[in-house]
Amino acid sequence: MVPTGPVARRYHDLTAHSPDSVRASGHELDWENKPFPFKVYTDIPGLHLPREIDVLATPALAAIGGEGAAPPAGLTLAALTSLLYYMAGVTKRKTYPGGGEVLFRAAASTGALYQTEVYVVAGTVEGLPPGVHHFCPGDFTLRRLRGEDARAALAEAAADATPGRRGATLVLTGLVWRNSWKYRARTYRHLFWDGGTMLANALATAAALGLAPRLFTGFVDAAVHRLLGIDGAREVALALLSVGPETPPAASAPPPAPIEHATLPLSRHVVDEPLVAQAHAASALATPEDVVRWRAGRAPVPTPAGARLIALPPPDPRAGRALGETIQRRGSTRSFAQTPLGVAELGAALWATSRPVPGDVPTGLVDIYMSAHAVEGLPPGTYLYRRDAHALDPLDTGEFRRQAAFLCLEQPLGGDAAATLFFLSPLDAVLAAFGERGYRLVNLEAGLAGGRAYLAAYALGFGASGLTFYDAEVVRFFLPRAAGADAIFVTALGRARGAVGDVLGLNTIAAPTRRS
Ligand SMILES: Cc1cc2nc3c(=O)[nH]c(=O)nc-3n(C[C@H](O)[C@H](O)[C@H](O)COP(=O)(O)O)c2cc1C
Repeated sequence: MVPTGPVARRYHDLTAHSPDSVRASGHELDWENKPFPFKVYTDIPGLHLPREIDVLATPALAAIGGEGAAPPAGLTLAALTSLLYYMAGVTKRKTYPGGGEVLFRAAASTGALYQTEVYVVAGTVEGLPPGVHHFCPGDFTLRRLRGEDARAALAEAAADATPGRRGATLVLTGLVWRNSWKYRARTYRHLFWDGGTMLANALATAAALGLAPRLFTGFVDAAVHRLLGIDGAREVALALLSVGPETPPAASAPPPAPIEHATLPLSRHVVDEPLVAQAHAASALATPEDVVRWRAGRAPVPTPAGARLIALPPPDPRAGRALGETIQRRGSTRSFAQTPLGVAELGAALWATSRPVPGDVPTGLVDIYMSAHAVEGLPPGTYLYRRDAHALDPLDTGEFRRQAAFLCLEQPLGGDAAATLFFLSPLDAVLAAFGERGYRLVNLEAGLAGGRAYLAAYALGFGASGLTFYDAEVVRFFLPRAAGADAIFVTALGRARGAVGDVLGLNTIAAPTRRS
């Protein structure tokens, strides 16, 4: 049975932000009980990964578009290490007066809470024994949770031969409490937004390394949870990413035995979020046949274009920084200068957000609305981006900085940006097509699009920040065009006040040596 969509709709409505809900929240952070940012297995020795990382010389925009090195003869531990570093590694450290320290990572994450864990189901990786490994960015190690080649079991769970035929598949999971400590029930959205920003990095990195990534959002959840030895409630599987050249299919093996390993406690005690658990359980797929049926869902027809489109300059994928340098520099801009972006810069970012994703279901479930405040050659106002025509559909003309800041939970970033992108989805139509799991798809796609916008911005020398928002107010702002849509995620683009990076006073940490 492929589940339908009422649980997702209820979850979405119950976790919507409004000016009233935010003011009435009264939630106070329990700093004594803050979850530790790394999952640490205490009963397994760590395999220290090589400290030499590929510089990823492919221009970031080209890599986002799927270009990169020729496919290597096989998947090596060196390539896998680079992939892990650029998707989930610690790239910067900030120390605060009074001794606090945050280890910032390659991809943006709500509240810098980093609840997304990465596992590697490895088969034929030169230099790495087969098995299921957990990646810990804190000490830059892999810990082997199982010793057998489990790729055939993963292929069965994904109802697709690919995970059994590639050198390795990365599994992204969300550790709910690490994020819900701060964001409570809204965390379920964040699992997919933050999973999406990591996938933006991972897809581009894997393309740059010639690893032909393939994303799976449909899988038998319980089978993947069993494989990783996670409970499927407090830690849940989000997506699979198969990488590396094709190999002969992994031999089938007996069903994986249960595993249980000791880990450091996340914090003194965990507070469960029933809405998160319900939304996840309701969107689970139970059998490979269900996965196949679910994948046959058809994307809703895109919103019809208005009569007059403004063509954007064709993007130059070779412009801007290389991917490795882009990811190393990426950070969230903390204050925008209200200075303009060029229309080509904006166009390149919009193009990047909506590149196809090599995956098991279609993308294009999310539309990109925009409040443009300062873009050279573009009248200030609201627009809808038409990815098929790489053009803007003008909606309304006006100076909307104040309104845009309000929509972004009254954060100045949303109004000071040169342009603020609002990702909206025809959610009910998506839920009708893809059932409860359609909710995962729209949030993941919006996070991925936002993650790509971050990369495009840092490739071209400007800044970006993900933002949260007042749900209904966003839709109201974009009426009548947005009638029937729901707000999913927001990303602001613009030039940082002060030099990018300096705003945070970040020191690049002793990153692994990078090799060309
Ligand atoms: C999905 C998402 C939502 C975010 N929402 C906000 C926000 O509402 N306000 C804000 O100032 N930063 C927001 N951020 C930025 C995060 O705070 C930032 O990514 C995190 O602190 C890590 O820092 P870095 O991006 O500089 O590495 C968001 C980031 C993401 C990925």
